[in-house]
Amino acid sequence: MCLNRIALACLCMLAFSPGTLPAQENEVRRVIADSSLYDNDFLPASFHQSRRALLREALPDSGMAVVFSAPVRVRSNDVNYVYHQDPGFYYYTGHRQPGAVLLVFKEPQVIGDTRSDEFLFVRRPNALSETWTGRIPSSGDVVAYSGVPAVLYNGEFKGLAHDFSRTPYVWVSFPADVNEQEALKGTAGWLAARFRDAAATVPDVTFDQRSLRRANALFREVKTDSEIGLLRKAIMLTCRGFMEALRASEPGMHEYELENINEYMWRKEGAEHTGFPSIVGGGHNSCVLHYETNRKKLLSGDMVVMDMGAEYHGYTADITRSFPVNGRFTREQAVIYNLVLAAQEAGLAACVPGNGFNEPHRAALKVIAAGLMELGIIDESSEARNYFMHGTSHYLGLDVHDAGTYGPLKPGSVITVEPGIYIREEAACDRRWWNIGVRIEDDVLITASGHEVLSGCVPKTIPEIEAIMQERSLFNDMQ
Ligand code: GLY
Ligand code: MN
Ligand code: MN
Repeated sequence: MCLNRIALACLCMLAFSPGTLPAQENEVRRVIADSSLYDNDFLPASFHQSRRALLREALPDSGMAVVFSAPVRVRSNDVNYVYHQDPGFYYYTGHRQPGAVLLVFKEPQVIGDTRSDEFLFVRRPNALSETWTGRIPSSGDVVAYSGVPAVLYNGEFKGLAHDFSRTPYVWVSFPADVNEQEALKGTAGWLAARFRDAAATVPDVTFDQRSLRRANALFREVKTDSEIGLLRKAIMLTCRGFMEALRASEPGMHEYELENINEYMWRKEGAEHTGFPSIVGGGHNSCVLHYETNRKKLLSGDMVVMDMGAEYHGYTADITRSFPVNGRFTREQAVIYNLVLAAQEAGLAACVPGNGFNEPHRAALKVIAAGLMELGIIDESSEARNYFMHGTSHYLGLDVHDAGTYGPLKPGSVITVEPGIYIREEAACDRRWWNIGVRIEDDVLITASGHEVLSGCVPKTIPEIEAIMQERSLFNDMQ
């Protein structure tokens, strides 16, 4: 890249630093809103600080890491999708607003008149935006919840006063879908474009996306106690949702009714989002792995696959239970169900630190292959993949398919164990098995000596499921 030292020399000074904010502004815009009115159980600043410390430690000498916030995405016309922060950015900052970028340096640098080894650029509060969409945190707020000492406003990022020849090793990931917003001042796309402009003035700058991805995977794969606390909460809320949906289930309901009953139970307790599009598929839809339409009327005899997860303060649950909508398994449904349950038990038994990431899958697949052969549904074990087409495990955390190395299992990792069997209509087997889809998914913490099933609060055996489905739900009385 071409060097333009003159351009570097005249890079403009950054006008704002935390110290220059009027004290009154800091006072009015309090850091964390009144704890009796709003959530007060977010990850502490010390958590985000510790994550940036890991990143700094991993950087090469003269290195810097650049992490952008997620862009705002247009849903249609002038309506945006509900904003969701990029999990990687949230991990390092706790900042939940768009239009921000984090710079982490191996060695302290001076930007403008501020010397620090980390800088966070954020949207400046402004009355017009705040009239429409509410309070924008001030730099003082952001200092408090992120722990970044140097929080600056993003308008000043335009003439980023940083000499890239001092930090030529740049770990960065440019989100692929932000370019269209380059022209809009203050957006993630605009910040990314300004960053490229500034770095382009220096030769021999190495943009290294892979090392950043690898570092994120290493860190995020092992959860801290505070992360596990939030995951436990997301999972506990999701358990309540499943229990209520199981109680409420009856023929004649629609897939979306079960979905909404489940979701209501966690929204009621403060979960902000669904961690992924909810899957509630009955009858033939139970065989669609990531079915999201959720519109069919459920008929007596339908098997339902319900795969849902509450997201609480960024952390998501991911639980699946399968059950007959009328509360009584047919013989065929019970046989397939118990085979998946046995496969899941084999997968769980392989959740031991040091085991290869794929060992739970291998164990589950072996049980399913043997079982399907015994039932005459397949002739050779290699055909099992026709009915169990997905993997058994993924990491779980800020993303439902969370960052991780997929190396040997480590204590502190949270993974799913989720085998399934899906026998579609016209599958090459006796038709009595058709339209039976079963997946059983639990969220599992790998411990020093083995594992803990975090989602065990939702019933899983046939007698337990049939028993809870006999109970009534308040929702049954709603017309
Ligand atoms: N809910 C998506 C998955 O289980 O991976
Ligand atoms: Mn999953
Ligand atoms: Mn799932």
